[in-house]
Amino acid sequence: MAEPLVFAHRGSSADLPEHTLAAYLRALADGADGLECDVRLSRDGHLVCVHDRRLDRTSNGHGLVSARTLAELDRLDFGSWHPGCGPAGPPDESHTRLLTLQRLLDAVLAAGRPVRLLIETKHPSRYGRDVERRLVALLRRYGLTEPGPDDPVRVTVMSFSLLAVRRVRALAPRLPTVLLMDLPPRWLRRGHLPFGTRIAGPNVELLRTRPWLVPALRAAGHQVYVWTVNEPADLDLALAAGVDGLITDRPAHTLARLGR
Ligand code: G3P
Ligand code: CA
Repeated sequence: MAEPLVFAHRGSSADLPEHTLAAYLRALADGADGLECDVRLSRDGHLVCVHDRRLDRTSNGHGLVSARTLAELDRLDFGSWHPGCGPAGPPDESHTRLLTLQRLLDAVLAAGRPVRLLIETKHPSRYGRDVERRLVALLRRYGLTEPGPDDPVRVTVMSFSLLAVRRVRALAPRLPTVLLMDLPPRWLRRGHLPFGTRIAGPNVELLRTRPWLVPALRAAGHQVYVWTVNEPADLDLALAAGVDGLITDRPAHTLARLGR
């Protein structure tokens, strides 16, 4: 069986502030096969890499991300809260500056080696479908919506929302998609995902509580990317289940455990 791909969840986010350029460059230096990021829209419609709806946990700002313009978000500090910045504080702006998806794409394309990018769309209610529309338009500008096997950068779009996955498939049928799940969907029959979605994204808890799930998905021909695999016991479980991708905050540890 092939070794699973290792994806850095929000970058090497155990070591450095999540979703900062520094965390993603560290993940590439760690040897991760790919990078996971969340995207949502600023008030003026820019795709920004922020997990939470609100700014409070990961920046010195407050309130909704979607209520701020890109220029306003760009003035905030997204890094100093993280212990990985050390007592002397963040070494440079790559540790603190808001990351836009465009900046991340530029960094990935400049990496000079193959990188897979897993982009998860988040859904601030004010913007709904605009997230997928703007995402596909940006990826199209970068020539990333028609992936070829030898392309150095290969994008996959993920969501917990069936609607979002369906929108992406309608806008860019050749872009691979992942349906994320933290419960097995009621409609899942014999492990088949809808809409031509090839990849399932269960959380690691589901591997423990629903041991039938991964075999059913694989028997139906799907790949399985599991998140968030940080603990050694979870890694053992995911490897025993034969998953195709491991999404982790600690890519260096994961790769070391895999002997890579
Ligand atoms: O990679 C999937 C995982 O990121 C989904 O959960 O909350 O970390 O975006 P969350
Ligand atoms: Ca995510």
